[in-house]
Amino acid sequence: MKIISHKNKLVKFIQNEKNLGFVPTMGGIHLGHISLIKRSISQCNKTVVSIFINKPQFNRNHDFKKYPRALNKDIKKLKKLKIDLLYLPKNKEIYPNGQNKNIKISSLKNKLCGKNRPGHFQAVADVIDRFLKIIKPKKIYFGEKDFQQLKIIENFIKKNHSETKLIPCKTIRENNGIALSSRNCLLSSDEKKIAAKIFNILFKNKTKLLKKKLSLTDLRKKIYDLGVNKIEYIELLDINKLIKPYKKIKKYKIFIAYYLGSTRLIDNI
Ligand code: PAJ
Repeated sequence: MKIISHKNKLVKFIQNEKNLGFVPTMGGIHLGHISLIKRSISQCNKTVVSIFINKPQFNRNHDFKKYPRALNKDIKKLKKLKIDLLYLPKNKEIYPNGQNKNIKISSLKNKLCGKNRPGHFQAVADVIDRFLKIIKPKKIYFGEKDFQQLKIIENFIKKNHSETKLIPCKTIRENNGIALSSRNCLLSSDEKKIAAKIFNILFKNKTKLLKKKLSLTDLRKKIYDLGVNKIEYIELLDINKLIKPYKKIKKYKIFIAYYLGSTRLIDNI
């Protein structure tokens, strides 16, 4: 596995590779990331993984500072997977002239996480745009864990980088149902138990919710009773348009964002 921080070296290493896979991450590598990486290895001739904690996508400086950093452990895990290249760019290389505030993305940005995180998805699209201009992969891998991000970036790539295809990958969970996330290491063992109970409540009640035998208000109450500090949103939405289900429901999911202590978690079930 080559570790490269300069884009010129990176471009040299991957030039002429027609079947390149790319997995962008912010590090804290866990089995969720690893499932994306394994998918890329199985579908592509070469796989590039990036670790870059993209400051502009954090709405609060505190969150950025608190974000788990575990580079040495990450490198060990990635070496075992035998990826071809780990890209660790410096901030200046990605943002020589600051952010692109004019980036246009789909109106899905105004829902769910976007309501409370102004500019977040534009900042994600901005960094992905920059990566794609350098790496030009055939395939880029995203997790359904961050479903709204996946949909927004899928639309963005279709419009702006049609040479690249986004491959959606299923959410990987612990045995107790908690979706793997770099932020889970910030949870206490009691908070982890609560997160597992929330998954169970959502999983068990999804059908009732859809059949209107249970309301979102009831569900909110059940979750607050577990000791959650704040539910930022909980919604039942059509997965293609992120609109409320009506008439014929095709595919739908419960989307949730909540706080355990000061840690913000999101999931979709
Ligand atoms: P990060 O949170 O590190 O996630 C990198 C990728 O791993 C994303 O596509 C995310 O959806 C996926 N992922 C995370 N947890 C997962 C799980 N439990 N199962 C399956 N996939 C999972 O998302 C980001 O970084 C950043 O916003 C990024 C796209 C890198 C842009 O900065």
